Amino acid sequence: MLRSHHCGALDIKNVNEKVVLSGWVAKRRDFGSLTFIDLRDRYGITQLSFNEEYSKELLIQSRELGREFVIQIEGTVAERSNKNLKIKTGEIEIIVEKLTILNSSLTPPFTIDDETDGGDDIRMQYRYLDLRREPVRNNLILRHQVAKHVRQYLDCLDFIEVETPVLIKSTPEGARDFVVPSRMNQGQFYALPQSPQTFKQLLMVSGFDKYYQIVKCFRDEDLRADRQPEFTQIDCELSFVEQEDILNIFEGMVQHLFKEVKGIDIGTLPRMTFEDAMKWYGNDKPDIRFEMKFNYITELTRGKNFPVFDAAETVLAISAKGCATYTRKQLDELTEWVKRPQIGAKGLVYVMCNEDGSYKSSVDKFYTQEDLKAWANTSQAEAGDLLLLLCGDTKKVQKQMSELRLEMGERIGYRDKNNYKALWVIDFPLLEQDEETGKWHAMHHPFTSPKPSDIPLLDTNPGAIKANAYDLVINGVEIGGGSIRIHNKELQAKMFEVLGFSDDEARYQFGFLMNAFEYGAPPHGGIALGFDRLCSMFGGADSIRDFIAFPKNNQGRDMMIDAPSTIDDKQLTELGVRVS
Ligand code: AMO
Repeated sequence: MLRSHHCGALDIKNVNEKVVLSGWVAKRRDFGSLTFIDLRDRYGITQLSFNEEYSKELLIQSRELGREFVIQIEGTVAERSNKNLKIKTGEIEIIVEKLTILNSSLTPPFTIDDETDGGDDIRMQYRYLDLRREPVRNNLILRHQVAKHVRQYLDCLDFIEVETPVLIKSTPEGARDFVVPSRMNQGQFYALPQSPQTFKQLLMVSGFDKYYQIVKCFRDEDLRADRQPEFTQIDCELSFVEQEDILNIFEGMVQHLFKEVKGIDIGTLPRMTFEDAMKWYGNDKPDIRFEMKFNYITELTRGKNFPVFDAAETVLAISAKGCATYTRKQLDELTEWVKRPQIGAKGLVYVMCNEDGSYKSSVDKFYTQEDLKAWANTSQAEAGDLLLLLCGDTKKVQKQMSELRLEMGERIGYRDKNNYKALWVIDFPLLEQDEETGKWHAMHHPFTSPKPSDIPLLDTNPGAIKANAYDLVINGVEIGGGSIRIHNKELQAKMFEVLGFSDDEARYQFGFLMNAFEYGAPPHGGIALGFDRLCSMFGGADSIRDFIAFPKNNQGRDMMIDAPSTIDDKQLTELGVRVS
Protein backbone atom coordinates (compact mmCIF):
# COMPACT_ATOMS: atom_id res chain seq x y z
CA MET A 1 0.00 0.00 0.00
CA LEU A 2 1.19 3.48 -0.82
CA ARG A 3 -0.40 4.74 2.40
CA SER A 4 -0.98 3.72 5.99
CA HIS A 5 -4.14 5.82 6.36
CA HIS A 6 -6.47 7.77 4.11
CA CYS A 7 -6.90 11.53 4.30
CA GLY A 8 -10.05 11.44 6.42
CA ALA A 9 -8.82 9.01 9.04
CA LEU A 10 -6.45 10.71 11.44
CA ASP A 11 -7.42 12.69 14.52
CA ILE A 12 -6.13 13.72 17.91
CA LYS A 13 -5.88 10.07 19.05
CA ASN A 14 -3.17 9.48 16.45
CA VAL A 15 -0.79 12.22 17.68
CA ASN A 16 2.86 11.11 17.55
CA GLU A 17 2.13 8.21 15.18
CA LYS A 18 4.28 7.77 12.11
CA VAL A 19 2.05 7.69 9.01
CA VAL A 20 2.21 7.46 5.24
CA LEU A 21 -0.43 9.35 3.25
CA SER A 22 -1.08 9.67 -0.48
CA GLY A 23 -3.39 12.05 -2.27
CA TRP A 24 -3.87 15.20 -4.30
CA VAL A 25 -2.58 18.67 -3.45
CA ALA A 26 -5.80 20.62 -2.90
CA LYS A 27 -4.30 23.84 -1.59
CA ARG A 28 -0.85 25.22 -0.70
CA ARG A 29 -0.26 28.11 1.66
CA ASP A 30 3.28 29.50 2.04
CA PHE A 31 4.42 31.50 5.06
CA GLY A 32 8.17 32.31 5.19
CA SER A 33 9.61 29.34 7.00
CA LEU A 34 6.47 27.25 6.78
CA THR A 35 4.24 25.69 4.09
CA PHE A 36 0.85 24.10 4.64
CA ILE A 37 -0.67 21.76 2.14
CA ASP A 38 -4.20 20.37 2.18
CA LEU A 39 -3.89 16.80 0.99
CA ARG A 40 -7.13 15.44 -0.47
CA ASP A 41 -8.49 12.00 -1.30
CA ARG A 42 -11.95 10.44 -1.45
CA TYR A 43 -12.22 10.36 2.33
CA GLY A 44 -11.29 13.91 3.27
CA ILE A 45 -8.50 16.42 3.72
CA THR A 46 -5.46 16.29 5.98
CA GLN A 47 -3.17 19.23 6.58
CA LEU A 48 0.52 18.68 5.89
CA SER A 49 3.12 20.94 7.45
CA PHE A 50 6.57 21.55 5.93
CA ASN A 51 8.75 23.33 8.42
CA GLU A 52 12.14 24.92 7.76
CA GLU A 53 13.20 23.90 11.27
CA TYR A 54 12.74 20.26 10.34
CA SER A 55 14.15 20.36 6.81
CA LYS A 56 14.94 23.31 4.59
CA GLU A 57 15.23 20.97 1.60
CA LEU A 58 11.70 19.60 2.10
CA LEU A 59 10.34 23.13 2.45
CA ILE A 60 11.88 24.07 -0.90
CA GLN A 61 10.53 20.90 -2.51
CA SER A 62 7.03 21.59 -1.14
CA ARG A 63 6.97 24.95 -2.91
CA GLU A 64 7.27 23.19 -6.22
CA LEU A 65 4.04 21.32 -5.71
CA GLY A 66 1.20 22.58 -7.87
CA ARG A 67 -2.52 22.08 -7.43
CA GLU A 68 -3.61 18.49 -8.10
CA PHE A 69 -0.09 17.01 -7.97
CA VAL A 70 -0.29 13.46 -6.65
CA ILE A 71 2.09 12.98 -3.74
CA GLN A 72 3.04 10.54 -1.04
CA ILE A 73 4.39 11.71 2.29
CA GLU A 74 5.78 10.14 5.40
CA GLY A 75 5.58 12.04 8.64
CA THR A 76 4.38 12.30 12.22
CA VAL A 77 0.93 13.30 13.42
CA ALA A 78 1.00 16.45 15.55
CA GLU A 79 -1.64 18.51 17.35
CA ARG A 80 -2.41 21.70 15.45
CA SER A 81 -2.15 25.06 17.12
CA ASN A 82 -4.81 26.51 14.85
CA LYS A 83 -7.65 23.97 14.91
CA ASN A 84 -10.48 23.59 12.40
CA LEU A 85 -13.28 21.86 14.24
CA LYS A 86 -15.47 21.65 11.14
CA ILE A 87 -13.60 18.64 9.77
CA LYS A 88 -12.69 15.37 11.44
CA THR A 89 -8.95 15.79 10.84
CA GLY A 90 -9.02 19.48 11.83
CA GLU A 91 -7.24 19.08 15.16
CA ILE A 92 -4.09 17.56 13.71
CA GLU A 93 -1.51 18.01 10.99
CA ILE A 94 1.32 15.87 9.66
CA ILE A 95 4.88 17.10 10.10
CA VAL A 96 6.29 15.91 6.80
CA GLU A 97 9.55 14.00 6.92
CA LYS A 98 9.65 12.58 3.40
CA LEU A 99 7.98 13.70 0.18
CA THR A 100 7.58 11.71 -3.07
CA ILE A 101 5.91 13.18 -6.12
CA LEU A 102 3.86 10.34 -7.64
CA ASN A 103 2.62 12.44 -10.52
CA SER A 104 2.50 16.05 -11.60
CA SER A 105 -0.61 17.85 -12.86
CA LEU A 106 -1.45 20.67 -15.19
CA THR A 107 -3.26 23.53 -13.52
CA PRO A 108 -6.91 22.40 -13.55
CA PRO A 109 -9.29 24.52 -15.66
CA PHE A 110 -11.50 25.27 -12.64
CA THR A 111 -11.15 25.27 -8.89
CA ILE A 112 -11.66 21.86 -7.39
CA ASP A 113 -13.53 22.96 -4.33
CA ASP A 114 -17.06 22.74 -2.91
CA GLU A 115 -17.82 26.07 -4.57
CA THR A 116 -16.23 26.06 -7.99
CA ASP A 117 -15.67 28.79 -10.57
CA GLY A 118 -16.18 26.29 -13.40
CA GLY A 119 -19.23 26.69 -15.67
CA ASP A 120 -21.38 23.70 -16.67
CA ASP A 121 -19.67 23.01 -19.98
CA ILE A 122 -16.13 23.03 -18.70
CA ARG A 123 -17.04 20.85 -15.74
CA MET A 124 -18.71 18.36 -18.08
CA GLN A 125 -15.68 18.37 -20.37
CA TYR A 126 -13.42 17.63 -17.41
CA ARG A 127 -15.93 15.52 -15.53
CA TYR A 128 -13.15 13.41 -13.97
CA LEU A 129 -11.92 16.58 -12.24
CA ASP A 130 -15.44 17.65 -11.30
CA LEU A 131 -15.87 14.25 -9.65
CA ARG A 132 -12.97 15.10 -7.33
CA ARG A 133 -15.17 17.76 -5.74
CA GLU A 134 -16.77 16.62 -2.52
CA PRO A 135 -20.42 17.53 -3.27
CA VAL A 136 -20.34 15.70 -6.61
CA ARG A 137 -18.55 12.71 -5.11
CA ASN A 138 -21.10 12.61 -2.27
CA ASN A 139 -23.90 12.40 -4.83
CA LEU A 140 -22.38 9.25 -6.27
CA ILE A 141 -21.80 7.80 -2.83
CA LEU A 142 -25.48 8.46 -2.09
CA ARG A 143 -26.36 6.68 -5.35
CA HIS A 144 -24.33 3.68 -4.21
CA GLN A 145 -26.11 3.67 -0.85
CA VAL A 146 -29.54 3.77 -2.48
CA ALA A 147 -28.62 0.86 -4.80
CA LYS A 148 -27.33 -1.12 -1.82
CA HIS A 149 -30.55 -0.64 0.15
CA VAL A 150 -32.71 -1.43 -2.88
CA ARG A 151 -30.86 -4.74 -3.31
CA GLN A 152 -31.04 -5.47 0.40
CA TYR A 153 -34.82 -4.93 0.47
CA LEU A 154 -35.57 -6.93 -2.66
CA ASP A 155 -33.12 -9.73 -1.81
CA CYS A 156 -34.90 -10.22 1.51
CA LEU A 157 -38.15 -10.72 -0.38
CA ASP A 158 -36.60 -13.38 -2.65
CA PHE A 159 -36.35 -11.26 -5.77
CA ILE A 160 -33.74 -12.51 -8.24
CA GLU A 161 -31.57 -10.07 -10.20
CA VAL A 162 -31.45 -11.11 -13.84
CA GLU A 163 -29.66 -9.24 -16.63
CA THR A 164 -31.52 -8.75 -19.88
CA PRO A 165 -29.95 -7.93 -23.25
CA VAL A 166 -29.09 -4.50 -24.53
CA LEU A 167 -29.13 -5.25 -28.24
CA ILE A 168 -32.80 -5.96 -28.77
CA LYS A 169 -35.85 -5.11 -30.82
CA SER A 170 -37.97 -2.02 -30.24
CA THR A 171 -39.92 -1.85 -26.95
CA PRO A 172 -42.76 0.63 -27.04
CA GLU A 173 -42.41 2.97 -24.06
CA GLY A 174 -43.42 6.00 -26.07
CA ALA A 175 -40.04 7.48 -26.98
CA ARG A 176 -37.86 7.00 -30.05
CA ASP A 177 -35.41 4.13 -30.09
CA PHE A 178 -31.67 4.41 -30.31
CA VAL A 179 -30.67 1.94 -33.00
CA VAL A 180 -27.49 0.01 -33.72
CA PRO A 181 -26.77 -1.24 -37.25
CA SER A 182 -25.90 -4.91 -37.53
CA ARG A 183 -22.75 -5.69 -39.55
CA MET A 184 -23.57 -9.36 -39.81
CA ASN A 185 -27.16 -8.74 -40.88
CA GLN A 186 -26.76 -5.87 -43.27
CA GLY A 187 -29.68 -3.49 -43.52
CA GLN A 188 -30.98 -4.66 -40.14
CA PHE A 189 -30.81 -2.87 -36.82
CA TYR A 190 -30.95 -3.61 -33.15
CA ALA A 191 -32.79 -1.20 -30.89
CA LEU A 192 -31.47 -0.35 -27.44
CA PRO A 193 -34.09 -1.09 -24.76
CA GLN A 194 -36.30 1.78 -23.66
CA SER A 195 -36.91 -0.58 -20.76
CA PRO A 196 -36.61 -4.36 -20.28
CA GLN A 197 -40.43 -4.57 -20.33
CA THR A 198 -40.92 -7.53 -22.65
CA PHE A 199 -37.97 -9.48 -21.22
CA LYS A 200 -39.19 -9.18 -17.66
CA GLN A 201 -42.59 -10.46 -18.77
CA LEU A 202 -40.89 -13.39 -20.51
CA LEU A 203 -39.03 -14.12 -17.27
CA MET A 204 -42.41 -14.44 -15.60
CA VAL A 205 -43.46 -16.97 -18.27
CA SER A 206 -40.19 -18.76 -17.40
CA GLY A 207 -41.33 -19.01 -13.79
CA PHE A 208 -38.81 -16.63 -12.18
CA ASP A 209 -41.67 -15.31 -10.08
CA LYS A 210 -39.87 -12.25 -8.63
CA TYR A 211 -37.36 -10.42 -10.82
CA TYR A 212 -35.48 -7.20 -10.43
CA GLN A 213 -32.67 -5.43 -12.18
CA ILE A 214 -30.94 -2.10 -11.74
CA VAL A 215 -30.68 -1.50 -15.42
CA LYS A 216 -29.70 1.01 -18.07
CA CYS A 217 -32.51 2.16 -20.38
CA PHE A 218 -32.21 4.28 -23.50
CA ARG A 219 -34.72 6.77 -24.88
CA ASP A 220 -34.18 9.19 -27.71
CA GLU A 221 -36.40 11.99 -26.45
CA ASP A 222 -36.14 15.70 -25.71
CA LEU A 223 -34.00 16.19 -22.64
CA ARG A 224 -34.90 18.03 -19.46
CA ALA A 225 -33.52 18.30 -15.96
CA ASP A 226 -35.13 14.99 -15.04
CA ARG A 227 -34.46 13.17 -18.31
CA GLN A 228 -31.30 11.67 -19.74
CA PRO A 229 -31.03 9.67 -22.96
CA GLU A 230 -29.53 6.83 -20.97
CA PHE A 231 -30.80 6.46 -17.47
CA THR A 232 -31.25 3.73 -14.90
CA GLN A 233 -34.36 1.98 -13.67
CA ILE A 234 -35.01 -0.23 -10.70
CA ASP A 235 -37.04 -2.63 -12.79
CA CYS A 236 -39.23 -5.24 -11.12
CA GLU A 237 -41.80 -7.86 -12.06
CA LEU A 238 -43.77 -10.39 -10.01
CA SER A 239 -46.05 -13.32 -10.77
CA PHE A 240 -49.34 -14.27 -9.14
CA VAL A 241 -49.94 -10.78 -7.82
CA GLU A 242 -52.65 -8.18 -7.95
CA GLN A 243 -52.23 -4.42 -7.97
CA GLU A 244 -52.65 -4.28 -4.20
CA ASP A 245 -49.69 -6.64 -3.65
CA ILE A 246 -47.41 -4.55 -5.83
CA LEU A 247 -48.40 -1.30 -4.19
CA ASN A 248 -47.74 -2.81 -0.76
CA ILE A 249 -44.36 -4.31 -1.64
CA PHE A 250 -43.06 -1.12 -3.25
CA GLU A 251 -44.56 1.12 -0.63
CA GLY A 252 -42.46 -0.99 1.73
CA MET A 253 -39.40 -0.34 -0.43
CA VAL A 254 -40.02 3.41 -0.45
CA GLN A 255 -40.40 3.37 3.34
CA HIS A 256 -37.24 1.26 3.70
CA LEU A 257 -35.22 3.61 1.49
CA PHE A 258 -36.39 6.77 3.24
CA LYS A 259 -35.57 5.20 6.59
CA GLU A 260 -32.15 3.86 5.61
CA VAL A 261 -30.96 6.66 3.35
CA LYS A 262 -32.56 9.73 4.93
CA GLY A 263 -33.54 8.54 8.41
CA ILE A 264 -37.11 9.65 7.62
CA ASP A 265 -40.32 7.81 8.43
CA ILE A 266 -42.33 8.57 5.29
CA GLY A 267 -45.44 6.82 6.65
CA THR A 268 -48.28 5.29 4.66
CA LEU A 269 -48.55 6.53 1.08
CA PRO A 270 -51.91 8.07 0.26
CA ARG A 271 -53.59 7.03 -2.97
CA MET A 272 -55.27 9.35 -5.43
CA THR A 273 -57.10 8.40 -8.59
CA PHE A 274 -55.86 9.86 -11.85
CA GLU A 275 -59.24 11.56 -12.18
CA ASP A 276 -58.92 13.32 -8.83
CA ALA A 277 -55.31 14.27 -9.50
CA MET A 278 -56.33 15.98 -12.73
CA LYS A 279 -59.41 17.58 -11.20
CA TRP A 280 -57.83 19.03 -8.06
CA TYR A 281 -54.22 19.54 -9.15
CA GLY A 282 -54.39 19.54 -12.96
CA ASN A 283 -51.51 17.10 -12.95
CA ASP A 284 -51.02 13.34 -12.85
CA LYS A 285 -48.02 13.88 -10.59
CA PRO A 286 -49.39 16.25 -7.98
CA ASP A 287 -47.04 17.89 -5.51
CA ILE A 288 -48.93 17.30 -2.27
CA ARG A 289 -46.45 19.05 -0.01
CA PHE A 290 -49.08 21.79 -0.05
CA GLU A 291 -52.85 21.99 -0.62
CA MET A 292 -53.82 24.94 -2.83
CA LYS A 293 -56.37 22.74 -4.62
CA PHE A 294 -58.34 23.97 -7.60
CA ASN A 295 -61.75 25.54 -7.06
CA TYR A 296 -64.31 25.35 -9.85
CA ILE A 297 -66.16 28.66 -9.75
CA THR A 298 -67.46 28.78 -13.32
CA GLU A 299 -71.12 29.08 -12.33
CA LEU A 300 -70.42 31.85 -9.81
CA THR A 301 -68.81 33.97 -12.49
CA ARG A 302 -71.49 33.61 -15.15
CA GLY A 303 -73.98 36.25 -16.31
CA LYS A 304 -72.23 39.37 -15.01
CA ASN A 305 -71.29 40.66 -18.45
CA PHE A 306 -67.64 39.77 -18.18
CA PRO A 307 -67.32 38.27 -21.66
CA VAL A 308 -64.07 36.39 -20.98
CA PHE A 309 -65.56 34.34 -18.14
CA ASP A 310 -68.95 34.01 -19.82
CA ALA A 311 -67.33 32.43 -22.86
CA ALA A 312 -65.06 30.09 -20.91
CA GLU A 313 -65.84 26.43 -20.41
CA THR A 314 -64.20 26.51 -16.97
CA VAL A 315 -63.11 29.18 -14.51
CA LEU A 316 -60.62 27.97 -11.92
CA ALA A 317 -59.40 29.66 -8.77
CA ILE A 318 -56.60 28.96 -6.34
CA SER A 319 -56.04 30.71 -3.08
CA ALA A 320 -52.50 31.83 -2.30
CA LYS A 321 -52.06 32.16 1.46
CA GLY A 322 -50.92 35.54 2.68
CA CYS A 323 -50.38 37.01 -0.78
CA ALA A 324 -53.03 39.77 -0.66
CA THR A 325 -50.19 42.19 -0.09
CA TYR A 326 -48.76 41.55 -3.56
CA THR A 327 -47.88 44.85 -5.21
CA ARG A 328 -49.13 45.96 -8.61
CA LYS A 329 -45.67 45.18 -9.95
CA GLN A 330 -45.74 41.64 -8.57
CA LEU A 331 -49.20 41.05 -10.04
CA ASP A 332 -48.15 42.40 -13.43
CA GLU A 333 -45.11 40.17 -13.37
CA LEU A 334 -47.25 37.14 -12.44
CA THR A 335 -49.63 37.99 -15.30
CA GLU A 336 -46.71 38.10 -17.72
CA TRP A 337 -45.53 34.81 -16.25
CA VAL A 338 -48.79 32.98 -17.06
CA LYS A 339 -48.83 34.53 -20.54
CA ARG A 340 -45.44 33.08 -21.47
CA PRO A 341 -45.75 30.55 -24.30
CA GLN A 342 -44.71 27.73 -21.96
CA ILE A 343 -47.87 28.36 -19.89
CA GLY A 344 -50.05 29.88 -22.59
CA ALA A 345 -52.77 31.62 -20.53
CA LYS A 346 -54.46 34.63 -22.10
CA GLY A 347 -54.51 36.54 -18.84
CA LEU A 348 -54.80 36.34 -15.07
CA VAL A 349 -57.58 37.64 -12.85
CA TYR A 350 -56.84 38.31 -9.19
CA VAL A 351 -58.87 39.06 -6.09
CA MET A 352 -57.17 40.44 -2.99
CA CYS A 353 -58.94 39.43 0.19
CA ASN A 354 -58.11 42.46 2.31
CA GLU A 355 -57.67 42.30 6.07
CA ASP A 356 -60.67 44.67 6.53
CA GLY A 357 -63.01 42.17 4.85
CA SER A 358 -63.20 44.03 1.53
CA TYR A 359 -62.11 42.67 -1.82
CA LYS A 360 -60.07 44.28 -4.56
CA SER A 361 -59.96 42.61 -7.93
CA SER A 362 -58.85 43.17 -11.47
CA VAL A 363 -62.49 42.69 -12.56
CA ASP A 364 -64.17 45.11 -10.12
CA LYS A 365 -66.02 46.63 -13.08
CA PHE A 366 -68.09 43.47 -13.52
CA TYR A 367 -68.42 41.95 -10.08
CA THR A 368 -69.78 43.23 -6.77
CA GLN A 369 -68.17 42.72 -3.38
CA GLU A 370 -70.79 40.00 -2.79
CA ASP A 371 -69.72 38.19 -5.97
CA LEU A 372 -66.08 38.32 -4.98
CA LYS A 373 -66.94 37.17 -1.48
CA ALA A 374 -68.75 34.14 -2.90
CA TRP A 375 -65.66 33.22 -4.97
CA ALA A 376 -63.45 33.62 -1.92
CA ASN A 377 -65.72 31.53 0.29
CA THR A 378 -65.94 28.72 -2.25
CA SER A 379 -62.17 28.79 -2.51
CA GLN A 380 -61.58 28.84 1.25
CA ALA A 381 -59.72 32.14 0.86
CA GLU A 382 -59.42 34.15 4.06
CA ALA A 383 -58.47 37.73 4.82
CA GLY A 384 -54.86 38.23 3.66
CA ASP A 385 -55.09 35.67 0.84
CA LEU A 386 -54.89 36.25 -2.88
CA LEU A 387 -57.27 34.50 -5.26
CA LEU A 388 -55.84 33.77 -8.68
CA LEU A 389 -58.22 32.91 -11.52
CA LEU A 390 -57.64 31.40 -14.94
CA CYS A 391 -60.24 30.43 -17.49
CA GLY A 392 -60.57 28.52 -20.75
CA ASP A 393 -61.12 24.99 -22.03
CA THR A 394 -61.18 22.67 -19.05
CA LYS A 395 -58.17 20.53 -19.90
CA LYS A 396 -56.05 23.48 -20.96
CA VAL A 397 -56.91 25.63 -18.00
CA GLN A 398 -56.24 22.74 -15.60
CA LYS A 399 -52.78 22.42 -17.06
CA GLN A 400 -52.11 26.15 -16.87
CA MET A 401 -53.42 26.34 -13.32
CA SER A 402 -51.22 23.41 -12.36
CA GLU A 403 -48.17 25.41 -13.44
CA LEU A 404 -49.37 28.51 -11.61
CA ARG A 405 -50.07 26.48 -8.47
CA LEU A 406 -46.54 25.05 -8.51
CA GLU A 407 -45.06 28.49 -9.12
CA MET A 408 -47.03 30.01 -6.23
CA GLY A 409 -46.07 27.05 -4.04
CA GLU A 410 -42.44 27.80 -4.87
CA ARG A 411 -42.81 31.53 -4.21
CA ILE A 412 -44.59 31.01 -0.89
CA GLY A 413 -41.95 28.49 0.15
CA TYR A 414 -44.11 25.36 0.29
CA ARG A 415 -41.77 23.29 -1.86
CA ASP A 416 -39.08 22.63 0.71
CA LYS A 417 -36.65 20.02 -0.64
CA ASN A 418 -36.23 18.48 2.79
CA ASN A 419 -39.93 17.85 3.17
CA TYR A 420 -41.00 14.67 1.38
CA LYS A 421 -44.54 13.72 0.40
CA ALA A 422 -45.06 10.55 -1.60
CA LEU A 423 -48.27 9.12 -3.01
CA TRP A 424 -49.66 6.55 -5.43
CA VAL A 425 -51.65 7.80 -8.38
CA ILE A 426 -53.93 4.94 -9.46
CA ASP A 427 -56.68 4.07 -11.93
CA PHE A 428 -55.03 5.60 -14.98
CA PRO A 429 -56.99 5.48 -18.21
CA LEU A 430 -55.80 2.59 -20.38
CA LEU A 431 -55.72 4.69 -23.54
CA GLU A 432 -55.43 8.26 -24.64
CA GLN A 433 -56.52 9.66 -27.95
CA ASP A 434 -54.36 11.72 -30.26
CA GLU A 435 -56.33 14.93 -30.79
CA GLU A 436 -55.19 15.31 -34.38
CA THR A 437 -55.26 11.77 -35.75
CA GLY A 438 -57.92 10.32 -33.47
CA LYS A 439 -55.66 7.31 -32.91
CA TRP A 440 -55.54 5.55 -29.56
CA HIS A 441 -52.26 5.29 -27.68
CA ALA A 442 -51.49 3.21 -24.63
CA MET A 443 -51.16 5.61 -21.73
CA HIS A 444 -48.65 3.34 -20.01
CA HIS A 445 -47.64 0.72 -22.57
CA PRO A 446 -49.54 -1.82 -24.70
CA PHE A 447 -48.97 -4.67 -22.23
CA THR A 448 -50.99 -3.01 -19.48
CA SER A 449 -54.18 -4.79 -18.54
CA PRO A 450 -57.55 -3.05 -18.55
CA LYS A 451 -59.49 -3.42 -15.32
CA PRO A 452 -61.31 -6.74 -15.92
CA SER A 453 -64.76 -5.15 -15.61
CA ASP A 454 -63.84 -2.61 -18.33
CA ILE A 455 -62.70 -5.17 -20.95
CA PRO A 456 -66.04 -5.08 -22.84
CA LEU A 457 -65.51 -1.34 -23.41
CA LEU A 458 -62.61 -2.13 -25.75
CA ASP A 459 -65.18 -2.44 -28.54
CA THR A 460 -67.52 0.34 -27.52
CA ASN A 461 -65.81 3.12 -25.56
CA PRO A 462 -62.03 2.66 -25.34
CA GLY A 463 -61.52 6.11 -23.83
CA ALA A 464 -63.52 5.14 -20.72
CA ILE A 465 -61.40 2.09 -19.88
CA LYS A 466 -59.40 2.27 -16.66
CA ALA A 467 -56.19 0.32 -16.30
CA ASN A 468 -54.63 -1.49 -13.42
CA ALA A 469 -51.80 1.02 -13.69
CA TYR A 470 -50.16 3.15 -11.02
CA ASP A 471 -47.47 5.77 -10.63
CA LEU A 472 -45.31 6.52 -7.64
CA VAL A 473 -45.05 10.29 -7.20
CA ILE A 474 -42.78 12.07 -4.75
CA ASN A 475 -42.80 15.87 -4.38
CA GLY A 476 -44.44 16.32 -7.76
CA VAL A 477 -41.97 14.09 -9.61
CA GLU A 478 -42.95 10.83 -11.31
CA ILE A 479 -40.52 8.46 -9.65
CA GLY A 480 -42.01 5.22 -10.90
CA GLY A 481 -44.77 3.57 -12.85
CA GLY A 482 -46.12 0.13 -13.47
CA SER A 483 -49.15 -2.01 -14.10
CA ILE A 484 -50.77 -5.42 -14.02
CA ARG A 485 -50.08 -6.94 -17.43
CA ILE A 486 -52.17 -8.71 -19.97
CA HIS A 487 -51.24 -12.43 -19.83
CA ASN A 488 -53.76 -13.71 -22.30
CA LYS A 489 -52.92 -13.92 -25.99
CA GLU A 490 -56.39 -12.99 -27.25
CA LEU A 491 -56.64 -9.91 -25.02
CA GLN A 492 -53.13 -8.85 -26.04
CA ALA A 493 -54.07 -9.26 -29.71
CA LYS A 494 -57.23 -7.21 -29.12
CA MET A 495 -55.17 -4.50 -27.47
CA PHE A 496 -52.80 -4.30 -30.44
CA GLU A 497 -55.84 -4.06 -32.72
CA VAL A 498 -57.30 -1.13 -30.75
CA LEU A 499 -53.88 0.54 -30.93
CA GLY A 500 -54.04 0.31 -34.70
CA PHE A 501 -51.50 -2.50 -35.29
CA SER A 502 -52.39 -4.84 -38.15
CA ASP A 503 -52.11 -8.57 -37.38
CA ASP A 504 -48.88 -8.70 -39.35
CA GLU A 505 -47.37 -5.69 -37.61
CA ALA A 506 -48.25 -7.08 -34.19
CA ARG A 507 -46.78 -10.46 -35.09
CA TYR A 508 -43.64 -8.89 -36.56
CA GLN A 509 -42.97 -6.69 -33.57
CA PHE A 510 -44.30 -8.74 -30.65
CA GLY A 511 -44.80 -12.25 -32.03
CA PHE A 512 -42.30 -13.62 -29.50
CA LEU A 513 -44.39 -12.34 -26.60
CA MET A 514 -47.69 -13.53 -28.07
CA ASN A 515 -46.14 -16.96 -28.64
CA ALA A 516 -44.87 -17.07 -25.07
CA PHE A 517 -48.38 -16.32 -23.85
CA GLU A 518 -49.44 -19.64 -25.41
CA TYR A 519 -47.18 -21.60 -23.07
CA GLY A 520 -48.67 -20.94 -19.67
CA ALA A 521 -48.12 -17.27 -18.87
CA PRO A 522 -48.95 -16.60 -15.20
CA PRO A 523 -50.85 -13.51 -14.12
CA HIS A 524 -48.15 -10.93 -13.48
CA GLY A 525 -47.40 -7.27 -12.96
CA GLY A 526 -44.59 -4.96 -12.03
CA ILE A 527 -43.14 -1.53 -11.72
CA ALA A 528 -40.02 0.44 -12.64
CA LEU A 529 -38.60 3.26 -10.57
CA GLY A 530 -36.39 5.92 -12.08
CA PHE A 531 -33.20 5.32 -10.13
CA ASP A 532 -31.52 8.61 -11.10
CA ARG A 533 -34.65 10.55 -10.15
CA LEU A 534 -34.89 8.76 -6.83
CA CYS A 535 -31.26 9.57 -6.03
CA SER A 536 -31.57 13.23 -6.98
CA MET A 537 -34.71 13.41 -4.86
CA PHE A 538 -32.84 12.03 -1.87
CA GLY A 539 -29.98 14.42 -2.61
CA GLY A 540 -32.37 17.39 -2.74
CA ALA A 541 -31.39 18.30 -6.32
CA ASP A 542 -33.54 19.14 -9.34
CA SER A 543 -31.29 17.72 -12.01
CA ILE A 544 -30.55 14.02 -12.28
CA ARG A 545 -27.28 14.88 -14.06
CA ASP A 546 -25.55 15.53 -10.75
CA PHE A 547 -26.23 11.95 -9.71
CA ILE A 548 -24.86 10.29 -12.83
CA ALA A 549 -21.10 9.79 -13.03
CA PHE A 550 -20.78 10.66 -16.71
CA PRO A 551 -23.99 12.32 -17.89
CA LYS A 552 -24.94 13.80 -21.25
CA ASN A 553 -25.72 17.47 -21.71
CA ASN A 554 -29.06 18.83 -22.97
CA GLN A 555 -28.07 18.18 -26.56
CA GLY A 556 -27.45 14.53 -25.66
CA ARG A 557 -23.68 15.01 -25.96
CA ASP A 558 -21.01 13.57 -23.76
CA MET A 559 -18.74 16.62 -23.66
CA MET A 560 -15.85 14.69 -22.18
CA ILE A 561 -15.43 11.95 -24.75
CA ASP A 562 -17.04 14.10 -27.44
CA ALA A 563 -19.79 11.69 -28.44
CA PRO A 564 -21.71 11.22 -30.61
CA SER A 565 -19.07 11.50 -33.31
CA THR A 566 -18.67 10.65 -36.95
CA ILE A 567 -17.27 7.26 -37.90
CA ASP A 568 -15.00 6.57 -40.80
CA ASP A 569 -16.06 5.50 -44.27
CA LYS A 570 -14.71 2.00 -43.85
CA GLN A 571 -16.85 1.39 -40.78
CA LEU A 572 -19.93 2.79 -42.52
CA THR A 573 -19.37 0.52 -45.51
CA GLU A 574 -18.88 -2.50 -43.27
CA LEU A 575 -22.14 -1.73 -41.50
CA GLY A 576 -23.97 -1.27 -44.76
CA VAL A 577 -25.41 2.08 -43.68
CA ARG A 578 -23.58 4.30 -46.14
CA VAL A 579 -25.73 7.09 -47.41
CA SER A 580 -24.16 8.13 -50.67
P1 AMO B 1 -41.86 4.30 -17.44
O1 AMO B 1 -41.72 4.64 -18.86
O2 AMO B 1 -42.92 5.04 -16.65
O3 AMO B 1 -42.23 2.78 -17.24
O4 AMO B 1 -40.47 4.50 -16.72
C1 AMO B 1 -40.31 4.22 -15.34
C2 AMO B 1 -39.59 5.37 -14.65
O5 AMO B 1 -38.33 5.63 -15.28
C3 AMO B 1 -38.01 7.01 -15.12
N1 AMO B 1 -37.68 7.57 -16.45
C4 AMO B 1 -36.60 8.34 -16.71
N2 AMO B 1 -35.62 8.78 -15.91
C5 AMO B 1 -34.65 9.53 -16.47
N3 AMO B 1 -34.58 9.85 -17.78
C6 AMO B 1 -35.55 9.42 -18.62
N4 AMO B 1 -35.46 9.71 -19.92
C7 AMO B 1 -36.62 8.63 -18.09
N5 AMO B 1 -37.71 8.04 -18.63
C8 AMO B 1 -38.34 7.41 -17.62
C9 AMO B 1 -39.20 7.68 -14.50
C10 AMO B 1 -40.31 6.70 -14.76
O6 AMO B 1 -41.33 6.77 -13.78
N6 AMO B 1 -41.54 -0.61 -18.42
C11 AMO B 1 -42.28 0.41 -17.68
C12 AMO B 1 -42.41 0.05 -16.23
C13 AMO B 1 -43.39 -1.06 -15.95
O7 AMO B 1 -44.49 -1.02 -16.51
O8 AMO B 1 -43.06 -1.91 -15.12
C14 AMO B 1 -41.55 1.73 -17.82
O9 AMO B 1 -40.45 1.83 -18.31
O10 AMO B 1 -38.97 7.84 -13.12
